[in-house]
Amino acid sequence: MRTQYCGQVNASHIDQMVDLYGWVHRRRDHGGVIFIDLRDREGLVQVVCDPELPEVFGIAEQVRNEFVVRLRGKVRARPPGSENPDLSTGEIEVLGLELEVLNRSETPPFQLDEHEKASEEVRLRYRYIDLRRPEMLERIRLRAKITRALRNFLDDNGFLDIETPMLTKATPEGARDYLVPSRTHPGKFFALPQSPQLFKQLLMMSGMDRYYQVVRCFRDEDLRADRQPEFTQLDIETSFMDEDALMTLMEEMIRQVVENVLGKRLPNPFPRMSHAEAVRRFGSDRPDLRCPLELVDVGDLMKSVEFKVFSGPANDPKGRVAALRLPNGSELTRKEIDGYTRLVGIYGAKGLAYIKVNEIAKGPEGLQSPILKFLPDDVVDTILQRTGAEDGDLIFFGSDKANIVNEALGALRIKLGEDRQLMESGWRPLWVVDFPMFERDEQANRWAALHHPFTAPKTEHQTMLESDPGACLSRAYDMVLNGTELGGGSIRIHRPELQEQVFRLLGIGEEEAQEKFGFLLAALKYGCPPHGGLAFGLDRLVMLLAGAGSIREVMAFPKTQTAACMLTSAPSEVSPEQLRELSIRVRKPQTEEQRAG
Ligand code: AMO
Ligand code: AMP
Repeated sequence: MRTQYCGQVNASHIDQMVDLYGWVHRRRDHGGVIFIDLRDREGLVQVVCDPELPEVFGIAEQVRNEFVVRLRGKVRARPPGSENPDLSTGEIEVLGLELEVLNRSETPPFQLDEHEKASEEVRLRYRYIDLRRPEMLERIRLRAKITRALRNFLDDNGFLDIETPMLTKATPEGARDYLVPSRTHPGKFFALPQSPQLFKQLLMMSGMDRYYQVVRCFRDEDLRADRQPEFTQLDIETSFMDEDALMTLMEEMIRQVVENVLGKRLPNPFPRMSHAEAVRRFGSDRPDLRCPLELVDVGDLMKSVEFKVFSGPANDPKGRVAALRLPNGSELTRKEIDGYTRLVGIYGAKGLAYIKVNEIAKGPEGLQSPILKFLPDDVVDTILQRTGAEDGDLIFFGSDKANIVNEALGALRIKLGEDRQLMESGWRPLWVVDFPMFERDEQANRWAALHHPFTAPKTEHQTMLESDPGACLSRAYDMVLNGTELGGGSIRIHRPELQEQVFRLLGIGEEEAQEKFGFLLAALKYGCPPHGGLAFGLDRLVMLLAGAGSIREVMAFPKTQTAACMLTSAPSEVSPEQLRELSIRVRKPQTEEQRAG
């Protein structure tokens, strides 16, 4: 029987016998004495194997890194001067009296303390070894702690933990579905849920009143550092609460969790900002408020300048011309500006005009810019005033379709903030509210739901649904923390007529609506309470609180950027028998060339 974890042996155990189980983290041969750092979930302890105990010493000579061993030994104080204050067990060591190899290990593909040398692919293929690293263990433990704190809060507030199906019908959240073929219904497919959205609404119609679930969601979409094909939501729904009450309760939950986990108190209440303001000032609907830089509109000044790059978008209702002032930016080199020009290029910007403000008092002479010759002096003056420019600053410009300018300058703003060390430290949460109901899908030439089709319009905007859908705002809200969208939700439509009307506006015909959402439309007719909720990205929350760079770092078994599992080699081919049972014939996958052509 284990008497304690390796990492928990301390000075209070001196002169006691301990039985430890763990992995050989390192073995050091100090001419005569062998030291083994023995590791388990809770940490490391130093074991000393003395040649005067030949049985133990003989085995110690044979063990290698990552062998699993049992050790019985006596705890003693480390000789003065050899204590290690960095270790929880640093005051003591264990004199090995019995050592048993429980299992050998081949030489691991990477040494735990040299994981940086291994590619992420190798780390994911041998994830069970990667997870032995204290840093990974700590993150997995933090994740469990956060989940527990969230559950405690919700349990204490009367929420019921209810499971919803994984084999289900498509729930539209804007991604492609993962499909599962049905054997018993040949030619038919289940969809794995993109979220439990419709089931949680049905639970409100069942009178459950307050629901939550820590739930896996599946989305076949382009992956990034903060997106995985399979991820976890903390999913929540309530009845008879308006957005104000819901946001207040939810931010209290996040405040408590952050306080509990990090000991930091977040602002109370979280600031709220309209979607329009967020986009105007920060070029983003998930603004990172730690960065003090802001976009400033200058389109009105550019309508009649001869510089077409500016006057074009200035006169286009869908265009935007905006400036971004960088304090002390005039010291940027040509090379640095070229780098930022490449950055905005990723977002489709065709260039990055700028003015270096060397000395305002000197007038045009005091400025330096490739575009100065195109701009009248009074326009330049107004730009300087409006951006609050001071000597030594640099002003960047973006001019294009509004969404390109927003994305490009929005990204530039963050990059400058990081490169120039302008980011404030700490936690800057906010709610983004007053989202538009719809966005225009130019390619398909129709309206698309900005959140999802079940989100209610603002009551006072309902009459505009038909006449001016583009101006219609919704009852949706997103919680944003340091530039990451942590969660989002809305008050839902709870009347069948309104739901049908919104489907119609989205170009979902009556037949399609019945086929896809008939069960929802039916349920809305049998006494549906007003309801609303939201879902948090649990992986993202843990990533932020752990200070990790990607959600892959806080998931035990994540997938790669191409949505594959390196460990199990999934997805993989299946046997012809399995396919036959499912009535599926696989077409030969296209070659790269066929796909391109
Ligand atoms: P939404 O689609 O905004 O809303 O998702 C909610 C939150 O889930 C997280 N998230 C992801 N995390 C990792 N990988 C992904 N691929 C991924 N996609 C989303 C984000 C996001 O804020 N049913 C609605 C919620 C509601 O209306 O109640 C929904 O799913 O942090
Ligand atoms: P050009 O006339 O193309 O040489 O551009 C003059 C300056 O305007 C250069 O600094 C370009 O980087 C910049 N520029 C070009 N297109 C844009 C744009 N769409 N938005 C902002 N700056 C631009």
